[in-house]
Amino acid sequence: MMTTKWSLPVMLIWVIPAVTVSCCRHPPSVWCSSPEIAKECQVTKQCSSFYSGEVNANPVNFTVYLEYLCPDCKQFMAGELYKAYTKLSSIMNLGLVPYGNARESKVGSKWKFKCQHGEKECLGNIIETCSMYVLPNISVYFPFIHCMEASYESPKESSKKCAKSLQIDLAPILECAESIVGNQLEHQMALKTAALKPAHTYVPWVTLNGVHTEDIQKQAESDLVKLICDTYKGPKPSACTESEKARKCWKL
Ligand SMILES: *[C@@H]1O[C@H](CO)[C@@H](O)[C@H](O)[C@H]1NC(C)=O
Ligand SMILES: *[C@@H]1O[C@H](CO)[C@@H](O)[C@H](O)[C@H]1NC(C)=O
Repeated sequence: MMTTKWSLPVMLIWVIPAVTVSCCRHPPSVWCSSPEIAKECQVTKQCSSFYSGEVNANPVNFTVYLEYLCPDCKQFMAGELYKAYTKLSSIMNLGLVPYGNARESKVGSKWKFKCQHGEKECLGNIIETCSMYVLPNISVYFPFIHCMEASYESPKESSKKCAKSLQIDLAPILECAESIVGNQLEHQMALKTAALKPAHTYVPWVTLNGVHTEDIQKQAESDLVKLICDTYKGPKPSACTESEKARKCWKL
């Protein structure tokens, strides 16, 4: 009879693709991020223009306005910021502005800073600022600032310990911090902070590609890796897709 004769091949046609096609384990936002993912999600044709080398996406600008002794700054630095920086430094331009809720006034030719948590905080801010000026690049000064932010000791003590453990020459940094150079550099941090629109009302205060909203702030504090990955327009580095993998099977 026709029905029984056809039932086996018909069944195979339906069953074979279902067992051999692997599950697309990625959300649609990353389907075009690499040829492998596009293939897995069966969108190779649709995505071909995205990963053929034409993508030349700009890194995501992410800037943190902070001050040396603020507990939330320390927590953000040790947690979300550290994670994002170590995983995504290739797709983000991280800016650090150590000034926070300080005030400044001009006395003679120098700026006088008044900090929320006192003199120690002012010195901590200037040492961090000078480290960015003295050290060759962010891969050297980020670990130094990260280490200083992990401490509640006086900045003299923390900078000494951190420089020692990271094998950084502290002398030029302290020299900068005590000189007119450090004073001027810190004034630049004051100007950057004062230029924020909207003006900051707490620290740490973050901007994503120059923009601050409460939503961006919340996302940065809860999952900065995701925020940077979602904002980046180029092919996603593996750190971006790792966390999404194996969680859901997306409908094709
Ligand atoms: C940063 O500076 C260090 C020390 O001079 C150097 O080894 C490293 O290659 C530099 N990294 C970048 C990304 O330029
Ligand atoms: C990121 O910062 C760079 C350097 O300051 C700037 O040229 C660029 O326009 C910024 N990009 C965005 C999207 O804000």
